[in-house]
Amino acid sequence: MTDMIRWREAAKKTDTLSLRTFTCTTRRKGKYDPPFHEDEVQRYFRQHAITAANRSRDQGRGGRLMIAEDSQGIAAAYTHQRLDPSRFPDRLASALTVAGPREVVRELCFLAVATHHRGKGGALANEAITEALYDIIDSEPEAERIHVLGQVDYHNTASMQLLERFNFEQLTKGVPPPRGDQRLGWWRHIIDPPR
Ligand SMILES: CC(C)(COP(=O)(O)OP(=O)(O)OC[C@H]1O[C@@H](n2cnc3c(N)ncnc32)[C@H](O)[C@@H]1OP(=O)(O)O)[C@@H](O)C(=O)NCCC(=O)NCCS
Repeated sequence: MTDMIRWREAAKKTDTLSLRTFTCTTRRKGKYDPPFHEDEVQRYFRQHAITAANRSRDQGRGGRLMIAEDSQGIAAAYTHQRLDPSRFPDRLASALTVAGPREVVRELCFLAVATHHRGKGGALANEAITEALYDIIDSEPEAERIHVLGQVDYHNTASMQLLERFNFEQLTKGVPPPRGDQRLGWWRHIIDPPR
């Protein structure tokens, strides 16, 4: 029987505990630790995601933390929030022009699926990003154009492949050390919502 997946917004009261054990990475054969770039994401969801989403909402950036559950607990999660173009980091500002107030920018900040859904051809990851894009459209009812941005570590092949499947384009490349702390490259997907 197929496990039912349900999406909903996470709430501090009910979901803090289950987020603390959300597991989206494991150590690979022959290695001591999980890959750093995946462990970072797991730590974010476990320790910071709820507080960060609430703070973002309170500060008017419309933070959302959405989770999907199956019979084993949290199966997938994502977060997104609005970005203010006047506060773009330099690298992004030179790669992305936003024309006028009807164009908005949202960052799809973190997205992960639980380990028991990984290595299965991307079915739940595809569902998660589809849900995220619709949730982003719903979050910006006035926008004529939405630039959806994502930052990806240059090691994170699974994540880059996921973004490529959904026609994200790479705006800036993540660069390995020692050329600076720029592991993360920016990716962008444009949505012109039908209104
Ligand atoms: C990004 C993500 C959602 C894409 O999911 P997906 O399309 O289903 O792709 P998979 O996870 O199956 O990708 C295959 C990779 O996962 C590894 N993998 C497969 N099953 C795994 C498991 N049970 N546990 C850990 N890793 C696994 C494969 O070895 C392969 O690794 P490689 O790219 O280093 O060769 C998913 O990889 C994920 O949740 N990653 C951890 C969180 C993360 O990094 N998020 C992106 C940045 S916010």
